[in-house]
Amino acid sequence: FQTGMLAGKRVVITAGPTREAIDPVRYISNHSSGKMGYALAQACAEAGAICTLISGPTQLNCPPHCQRIDVESAQQMHEAALKAVNDCDIFIATAAVADFRPLQAADQKIKKQADSDTMTLEMVKNPDILADVANSQQRPFCVGFAAETQDVERYARGKLERKNLNMVIANDVSQQGIGFNSDDNQVLIVDAKGSKALDKLSKAELARHLIREISERFQKAD
Ligand code: PMT
Repeated sequence: FQTGMLAGKRVVITAGPTREAIDPVRYISNHSSGKMGYALAQACAEAGAICTLISGPTQLNCPPHCQRIDVESAQQMHEAALKAVNDCDIFIATAAVADFRPLQAADQKIKKQADSDTMTLEMVKNPDILADVANSQQRPFCVGFAAETQDVERYARGKLERKNLNMVIANDVSQQGIGFNSDDNQVLIVDAKGSKALDKLSKAELARHLIREISERFQKAD
């Protein structure tokens, strides 16, 4: 790991979960803790990058020398990301963005209906933040994550091609002890040239390896 590897480069990272409001007191979300994205932000800053972290709700402190923009919903993250990537070299999408949100968040707390044991919530697709960044005019070098539970490499390669990305970092989130909310992770790097499996490491250590892998490919693509 070389300090200064990304000196002066602008990196935008999304991290954590999003929250999709059902009513003023309830939401739909997931188990992302933000640890992977925050570790990448820290490693970026150590490598000399100017790092902006766009974060869903987490319990974590912003790493030193990073700017954090706090958001809740996928739509807010989308807006913040498209603004931030205007002037950016590398975009890394670590966030676990809700694919759908309730079509309409109720203004008042939804009451139980005495005559019904079921409740139906109509959902609508959220924008794909990473795909929109990758198709924007000032397209940065785009790195996606892929959270898979089976056929990890095939699905990750599908995302690489479909979302028009430079790299995908895939993790098998069905494995105990890695992925969502763990301190460790184990990933497969997938790009146009091939695939590379990394050993299981703490997210902090893994992030340093990943920043080196990203930086090497970014410099070649530049
Ligand atoms: O936060 P931690 O607890 O440390 O956990 C880390 C992690 C498991 C969340 C992380 O390693 C991870 O896998 N992040 C991606 C989770 C995910 O939602 O993957 P996906 O396969 O559904 O999405 C693919 C890519 O598109 C991701 O880069 C995602 O950020 C992006 N995406 C997805 C949907 C959407 N609407 N907008 C997006 O930008």
